[in-house]
Amino acid sequence: MRLDRISFARRLASYSDAIQLPSQPVVEGRLLRMVGLTLEAEGLRASIGSRCLVINDGNYHPVQVEAEVMGFSSGKIYLMPVGSLAGIAPGARVVPLPDTGRLPMGMSMLGRVLDGAGRALDGKGGMKAEDWVPMDGPTINPLKRHPISEPLDVGIRCINGLLTVGRGQRLGLFAGTGVGKSVLLGMMTRFTEADIIVVGLIGERGREVKEFIEDILGEEGLKRSVVVASPADDAPLMRLRAAMYCTRIAEYFRDKGKNVLLLMDSLTRFAQAQREIALAIGEPPATKGYPPSVFAKLPKLVERAGNAEEGGGSITAFYTVLSEGDDQQDPIADSARGVLDGHFVLSRRLAEEGHYPAIDIEASISRVMPQVVSPEHLREAQRFKQLWSRYQQSRDLISVGAYVPGGDPETDLAIARQPQMVQFLRQGLRESESLPQSASQLAAIFNPGAAGR
Ligand SMILES: Nc1ncnc2c1ncn2[C@@H]1O[C@H](COP(=O)(O)OP(=O)(O)O)[C@@H](O)[C@H]1O
Ligand SMILES: [Mg+2]
Repeated sequence: MRLDRISFARRLASYSDAIQLPSQPVVEGRLLRMVGLTLEAEGLRASIGSRCLVINDGNYHPVQVEAEVMGFSSGKIYLMPVGSLAGIAPGARVVPLPDTGRLPMGMSMLGRVLDGAGRALDGKGGMKAEDWVPMDGPTINPLKRHPISEPLDVGIRCINGLLTVGRGQRLGLFAGTGVGKSVLLGMMTRFTEADIIVVGLIGERGREVKEFIEDILGEEGLKRSVVVASPADDAPLMRLRAAMYCTRIAEYFRDKGKNVLLLMDSLTRFAQAQREIALAIGEPPATKGYPPSVFAKLPKLVERAGNAEEGGGSITAFYTVLSEGDDQQDPIADSARGVLDGHFVLSRRLAEEGHYPAIDIEASISRVMPQVVSPEHLREAQRFKQLWSRYQQSRDLISVGAYVPGGDPETDLAIARQPQMVQFLRQGLRESESLPQSASQLAAIFNPGAAGR
């Protein structure tokens, strides 16, 4: 598959070419000025969230760019462009569009790589849309949502065994850069028991997008996935829309009764795109440079995942969140932790030791695990964590030989079980382990006779 920089660049150039102008006459406005990323127009009436087309037809070749209305003030409206503004000049026409835009949907999206507006990035041509849906999905009455009651097999032993995921759960993957988030998401894409997988690559570098699709996901992973990619050099509004589009795709399939796995890399870049927009239209920054609207957008996006009403499909979602080390001050990580049903923390120390997946099981939690596994499984998982923690506490003493065996029976047991525990936690990139296998391996650590239960 070809996915290169040129296609990203060409896509920006051709953006909005296909948008139809309204057939009835509308009151057009004029572009007054541009401040940073924001366009100021006057003379038209358009509501917040509606779309306009900014048209400069005085050139040799006319340029048109889609923009969204973000705010207004005494006769002026403020817009944010979705694409590049090259070629737009003062006095350009601003034409309000009749609706908020519709997005293409359908089974033919499987195996495809799309941008935030549903256009092909993979050079395989346009896809056949079965439906065109509005950006905003249907809201689900929270009291009618099916509760999380079934486990989801993600094919990764330490998650299945110690941090079991429930169908319809929303989890955060917290880590710094380069500790294995993308690789872990790729493994889940290949191994998870799901009907459809939707991957959103938001605000990554273009090179990483290509690597993720070709190396980490591979042909096998891509076959049952839809990938929506909006790299870091896209307009912030495009990155925001890509995050909403992949959520919308997941909702579409959920409403068709499918069990969907939604992976978004990363939620932090989504928040940063919203920060860029909010600051550009003049919202004051509040926490560490993030304006309040960022913290309002996060739960709005995340709440769309989860189970449908009784008898319907589900969206189980993993969002990656950038957090350096144990920095609890990062406002995005903090806020994400509050809106998600659990967080897995990847540790740089483990990654540096070559311990992959580098999940720090002491710092990680799956809040729904007690509801989805047997009491016996839960007890074994807790026992594992206790022994693992005990070993970690005495690690320095043990490694310099200062710990005297027999000093503490619990520590002795932790030392004796350490090799099996490490073996349980580590897993190769191409290996998968089912939920029942993971549970019986866990049981076997404490009770060697129980293997194969
Ligand atoms: N499960 C794994 N097995 C072996 N190497 C891994 C594994 N996970 C990550 N790595 C190594 O770590 C590097 C960075 O991983 P990546 O997932 O790209 O990090 P992130 O997405 O967190 O920035 C990879 O290129 C690879 O060398
Ligand atoms: Mg990554």
